Amino acid sequence: MHLPSLLPTLLALPHLIKAGTVPRHPNAVQHQDEMGNFENLATSEVPPKALWLGDGPPPVDEEAYQRLVCKGGQFLAVMFLTSAQAGPYLTPPQVSSASTWVSFPKQLTDWGYSESQKTNILLGPGQYGIEPLLATIGASFDSRDWFFSIIQHGDPYTTQQLDIQTYVSPNGRVLRKTGAHFHLGSHAASGTLMVSKQFSARHEATYRSPHIPDADLPALIRSSDIVYAFWYLHTYSNLRGLRNIIIWSVTNPTTQQIIRRAIQDAPPDVPGGDPTKNKLKPWPGYYFDAYTRACKALLGSPNGSGVAWMLIQRKEELGRKTVTGCSVFVSEATLMFEPSIVFYIGNAVAVTARSNSTNSE
Ligand SMILES: *[C@@H]1O[C@H](CO)[C@@H](O)[C@H](O)[C@H]1NC(C)=O
Ligand SMILES: *[C@@H]1O[C@H](CO)[C@@H](O)[C@H](O)[C@H]1NC(C)=O
Repeated sequence: MHLPSLLPTLLALPHLIKAGTVPRHPNAVQHQDEMGNFENLATSEVPPKALWLGDGPPPVDEEAYQRLVCKGGQFLAVMFLTSAQAGPYLTPPQVSSASTWVSFPKQLTDWGYSESQKTNILLGPGQYGIEPLLATIGASFDSRDWFFSIIQHGDPYTTQQLDIQTYVSPNGRVLRKTGAHFHLGSHAASGTLMVSKQFSARHEATYRSPHIPDADLPALIRSSDIVYAFWYLHTYSNLRGLRNIIIWSVTNPTTQQIIRRAIQDAPPDVPGGDPTKNKLKPWPGYYFDAYTRACKALLGSPNGSGVAWMLIQRKEELGRKTVTGCSVFVSEATLMFEPSIVFYIGNAVAVTARSNSTNSE
């Protein structure tokens, strides 16, 4: 599908949806047809899943934005340090920032996670709608060159309800599965990782009935460890070649508000116009260098923090990496209006040059 032909559709449909005349949002359809009750449970309440209608939600206020800029800036600085130097910046401070979870897939299995491969994925408009992005970063359009899977903690599709599924933890306790699930894809040759859903064990535990207390959560619980495990397991041929992390179709309301604010920092859509009128656009969308306020704020957002943590905790395995920039755009997925973010990853080198020559803030 050509971008020009897509544009009128993107502009017109939100109005139709608001008027209640059409099409339910494909997320909703997908949840019923493909995901069943499980997905509804996971996404129907707090934190709410936000659709991007019209111009999107109101932007975060200036004060909150500035805090995110600082948080993202700190992430960037810590990316240039060694694991030992980075440890003290963690809360609580650690001897090293390196993750202690290093035996995959064993530790995933031990803590009740399982992985199932997904096939028949479409990277074009019928599903992910990211071909123009893939062309730019040199990644294959053919999903058979990728590896897609769901890593989940409990299986919503068996006859046994998720609420009563259990496993025996490495310390011999019978614990309940939480329903955590991660939808991930990787293309090793181009060093591309795609995250399309990440619902952590801590988050999902609150949707189980009865709720699962903190003391009964799996010890392997951080999303950044699960996502890293996926990357490690399926791209060992190019483990240190990580170059792009795509966060596909963001429905987190906070991240959406940050995106709405960030795109106002880009040059105005209309030359000489008002940048606060900037609208989410198809690829190439808006590009931001790492040291801009916009990219730092996006890195500090709920969906950017996971990327930052993974780089900070996996310096030994991935090499010392940093974010070099990011783009925000809306995919060509039919009827999907939610923004996607791609973070570009590069080697963190020349820390001294960086610290004395970059004065963008
Ligand atoms: C964005 O972050 C939220 C909160 O952590 C998570 O639930 C959601 O799945 C993330 N979205 C993507 C596309 O990773
Ligand atoms: C930045 O660091 C380099 C290398 O240490 C030094 O030669 C240069 O003078 C410094 N520049 C500034 C502006 O301090």
